[in-house]
Amino acid sequence: MSKKAVITGVGTYVPEYILTNDELSTMVDTSDEWIMTRIGIKERHILKEKGLGTSDMAVKAVNELLKKTNTKPEEIEFLVCATVTPDMQFPATANIICDKVGIKEALSYDVNAACSSFIYALDLGSKYIESGKYKKIIVVGADKMSAIVDYTDRSVAPIFGDGAGAVLLEATEEGSGIIDSILRTDGAGRHHLHQKAGGSVKPASHETIDAREHFVYQEGQTVFKWAVSKMADVSVEMMKKHKITAESLDWLVPHQANNRIIEATAKRMGIRKDQVMINIQKYGNTTSATIPLCLGDYEDKLKKGDNVILAAFGGGFTWGSIYIKWGYNK
Ligand code: UT7
Repeated sequence: MSKKAVITGVGTYVPEYILTNDELSTMVDTSDEWIMTRIGIKERHILKEKGLGTSDMAVKAVNELLKKTNTKPEEIEFLVCATVTPDMQFPATANIICDKVGIKEALSYDVNAACSSFIYALDLGSKYIESGKYKKIIVVGADKMSAIVDYTDRSVAPIFGDGAGAVLLEATEEGSGIIDSILRTDGAGRHHLHQKAGGSVKPASHETIDAREHFVYQEGQTVFKWAVSKMADVSVEMMKKHKITAESLDWLVPHQANNRIIEATAKRMGIRKDQVMINIQKYGNTTSATIPLCLGDYEDKLKKGDNVILAAFGGGFTWGSIYIKWGYNK
């Protein structure tokens, strides 16, 4: 049997502070009823403390992962961080996480594919394991979305939250692990979801700050339509390719952007709601952390040999699906 990368543990972290819909309703013109009906989010966690960033949440998730899997920092040979909210433009947040955790002289860098970052990074990590060159890899997805959300813009403010989740990848020849990935992009979609300033085209200036261009810009309805069709299409393609039927799929792990997107995706795939991991009500859209946070919350229910499909859609546009045969019982 060929060598595959298998997830052997999950660690997660969300900050303590909970921003409820009721509190949000005192900040912008919105309501718990609108947010629950249109998005399905009840509350989200926010990293409030000044001076803390994405790496600080990632470090907590990675430390929990190391403890749970009985792994020493020095055993990690590659750490890849999926994020759109790096601590700073450079160096990579992955470098900072390694330093804070005590992972010395390993390979580490960031991957940014917006809300699809985690599945892109997981695919990358799996290839390094399959190559045989690396034995233990951490893939961490972490985002402090509150750093780039305009809390005076009601079309964006309710959606996002902060959090981090990490998985350990090791090699297996037992037939389980990351079996396949289908990852796609369409750069023409960049106009509908992006951050206008702060990059090389429009560096930060008084004008960009006055124009509030350092926040998430999203054309919600366009993104919604693309998200449903692309996430569902790529997941159905994966099911067909591997002869997975609606009954033989154990879990869909969708990016948590909007409960209506998740439900529409599941419907198009012909699967039941109880086959879908959903925790958007607790955390909102944590961008790179949604999928590992789901794996963490549902770890008790996952069984060795389960057919699991991860699916995501995000800015870029980026989207994709990963097929996993789950590798352990908790
Ligand atoms: O993770 C990356 C990918 N991102 C996504 O997948 C997000 C995709 N998009 C969405 O999830 C949804 O489009 C949103 C949640 C962003 C918006 O929901 P929507 O159902 O598409 O609402 P809409 O933008 O069509 O707005 C409908 C109405 C408008 O009022 P009028 O013009 O009908 O009077 C908005 O002004 O709802 C209004 N509205 C709100 N009302 C109360 C928009 N935001 C709010 C709000 N509270 N927060």
